[in-house]
Amino acid sequence: MTLNGRGAGVVFNWLHGTCKAHRYCISGDTQSSEIYGTKGMKTVVTGGAGFIGSNLVELLLDEGHAVLILDDLSTGKKENVSTFLEGRDCSLKQGSVTDLRLLKEIFQDVECVFHQAAIPSVQRSVENPRATHEVNVNGTLNVLLAARDCGVEQVIYASSSSVYGDTPTLPKHEEMLPTPKSPYAVSKLTGEYYCRVFAEVYGLQAVSLRYFNVYGPRQDPYSEYAAVIPRFITRILAHHPPVIYGDGTQTRDFTFVKDVARANLLAAERNAEGVCNIACGVRISINELAASIMELIGVELEVRYDEPRPGDIKDSLADIARAREALGFQPEFALTEGLAETIRWFQRPG
Ligand SMILES: NC(=O)c1ccc[n+]([C@@H]2O[C@H](COP(=O)([O-])OP(=O)(O)OC[C@H]3O[C@@H](n4cnc5c(N)ncnc54)[C@H](O)[C@@H]3O)[C@@H](O)[C@H]2O)c1
Repeated sequence: MTLNGRGAGVVFNWLHGTCKAHRYCISGDTQSSEIYGTKGMKTVVTGGAGFIGSNLVELLLDEGHAVLILDDLSTGKKENVSTFLEGRDCSLKQGSVTDLRLLKEIFQDVECVFHQAAIPSVQRSVENPRATHEVNVNGTLNVLLAARDCGVEQVIYASSSSVYGDTPTLPKHEEMLPTPKSPYAVSKLTGEYYCRVFAEVYGLQAVSLRYFNVYGPRQDPYSEYAAVIPRFITRILAHHPPVIYGDGTQTRDFTFVKDVARANLLAAERNAEGVCNIACGVRISINELAASIMELIGVELEVRYDEPRPGDIKDSLADIARAREALGFQPEFALTEGLAETIRWFQRPG
């Protein structure tokens, strides 16, 4: 399936002067809002109180869009978005994507749904595959059904590099056969298939963005399922040795959250469809990552090693040619820049 960056959408909507003119303009172009008096898209961000969701909400608000956050606050936190709820075009509805009736209520008149809500952990899915299925698969089906029935124009779905599995081929490109290795990866791939089928069968515009190891401000370091970068940063800041699962030679393509948020916006502006990797396009081993963070913080500690975790893959690196071509996406944050910004966030007072 190919992505379809429909530049023609810009012309069509400008010529017809619909109230949705703004959404088809590249950001920074103020002409459309001057002509049509629109302020921006009316959007819903599911999982908007979470790590990636809250960064996306911030970008959407900064770009003049209205945002309704739907979140059950299971792993997300109100404090991630509380500053956006005052004086900005943003509201928070606590509820679940497993509640179809609620989704149909809140999707009325919405133009674009950014579907980020999920149980996002491989380990949790290994321990409780049914819970992962309920939220990630049934919840995604609900989002698509409600979007279809409410006339939402576009759904942008947070997929995952985990769908590629542990194939030795690098970099991973979108034409490769997915080989999921965990219930989580199966759930994310199933969501992609539903997006594709809803596009083909019902004409709902849907795109799946396969995020590769996202990191940045507001990522939770404390849950037992925490991702490696916030875990390393908080431990190293406290002068505790970082703990590596496995021998540390496994590699990842770490992607700064602000790049991921921007990719979502680009996908909306370009009316993207299909599947698209969102990543930095560079890989680093976990041993090197630990060393980089220690160097940036200015601390030297002996790394501790523990058993590898089930479902974890060996290597990951994305081919981002399609994102470049179809979305005009180019990562703006090199790993050291993103890490430095993330460390500053963890060092903030209070
Ligand atoms: N962080 C990564 O590296 C990464 C990589 C690939 C894909 N993703 C995907 O990105 C999305 C966001 O992940 P994240 O890292 O920000 O995790 P997160 O846990 O911070 O965010 C998930 C959000 O979804 C909410 N949520 C969970 N179940 C819900 C439900 N039933 N109804 C409504 N809200 C619910 C949580 O409260 C949370 O706010 C997920 O879909 C995840 O699968 C993340």
